Amino acid sequence: MAEVPFHLDKLFSIIRDKSYVTLAEYMEYALYDREYGYYMKQNPLDKDFITSVSITQLFCETLALWIVDEWTNFQAPVHIHLVELGAGNGTMIYDILNFLFRYHKNCFEAISVTIIEVSPTLILVQKKKLDDFIDKVDWRQSLLYFKPCAPVLFIGNEFFDAFPVDQYLFTSRLWKQKVISLSEEGSLCVLWKKTHNIELPLRNIGDVIEISTGRMTFLYDIRLIIAKYGGSGLFIDYGYFDKPYKDTVQCMFQNSYCDLLDNVTCSDITCYVDFSEFSPYKRYITQGEFLVQYGIYQRLESVGQNLSFSQKCKLVYAVERLVNRNYMGDIFKVIII
Ligand SMILES: C[S@@+](CC[C@H](N)C(=O)[O-])C[C@H]1O[C@@H](n2cnc3c(N)ncnc32)[C@H](O)[C@@H]1O
Repeated sequence: MAEVPFHLDKLFSIIRDKSYVTLAEYMEYALYDREYGYYMKQNPLDKDFITSVSITQLFCETLALWIVDEWTNFQAPVHIHLVELGAGNGTMIYDILNFLFRYHKNCFEAISVTIIEVSPTLILVQKKKLDDFIDKVDWRQSLLYFKPCAPVLFIGNEFFDAFPVDQYLFTSRLWKQKVISLSEEGSLCVLWKKTHNIELPLRNIGDVIEISTGRMTFLYDIRLIIAKYGGSGLFIDYGYFDKPYKDTVQCMFQNSYCDLLDNVTCSDITCYVDFSEFSPYKRYITQGEFLVQYGIYQRLESVGQNLSFSQKCKLVYAVERLVNRNYMGDIFKVIII
């Protein structure tokens, strides 16, 4: 039997004890184990994957315009919380604060920022990045520790796709749950286990349903806060409203797709977000539509005036990547609650 790499020791011993772990438990270990989890031990951003945030700062500045709009709609209060969920390397909130500081001073003054970030390693990266605004920002590792005293604006880019999910497959007349177990040779393998734990409608054979209880609980907590203190939330992710009934879990290792069971704790595992869980919502539009409505082309025009021809071409290309429906404009959605 092959020797177990030390970073998988804990996972293997849990599986030996229980005979399997669910897909959500597996993802929880691979991504968020305190010692070895993918997000917990390193900064994977711009290494294994990039997000819209690092394509151009105009993305973040357009979000800042939404924040100004919301703050104005709330009658421009003297204090409002801005909460970023899962801030990665801190670039998005840095660019937002920088923009507000330069162009919307009153809104900037009213805002206090809280970052909800599970990864201690990324918190250190964010603190370094946000050095200029350090008095304005505080950190919590969980939403449970965030105690607001004013309306709250939540923002999150590619946050909800990083939540563990469970998968159920409809076979003839019953649903089976995806679990991860050990083969006779002692390596990780996928099994589908009969389950009666969950009531799901009858479907076509081969249909898959994905459920993230972690994501639903998190959303519920956000809603409680908004109901109590006022506010709203804007979330950008790739996902769907009408269930696709297929496996949407994907793993990225060094910018290429890999198998779910390969590179455990070294690859990013994500899944499409089920936006129907966000109902009732205020708006649901594509990223492209949102960026255009909130003025990304006007920002491009004004920033472009001070750039050389080749710098301007690069910026135009970056904006097209974010807005154009053939790139990220359509697949990424913006949901506002
Ligand atoms: C895919 S990255 C996105 C980073 C950033 N928003 C961006 O767009 O570049 C996901 C981020 O969410 C954090 N994260 C994931 N699950 C979390 C949770 N339950 N609570 C707080 N942070 C979480 C990760 O550590 C990481 O910072």
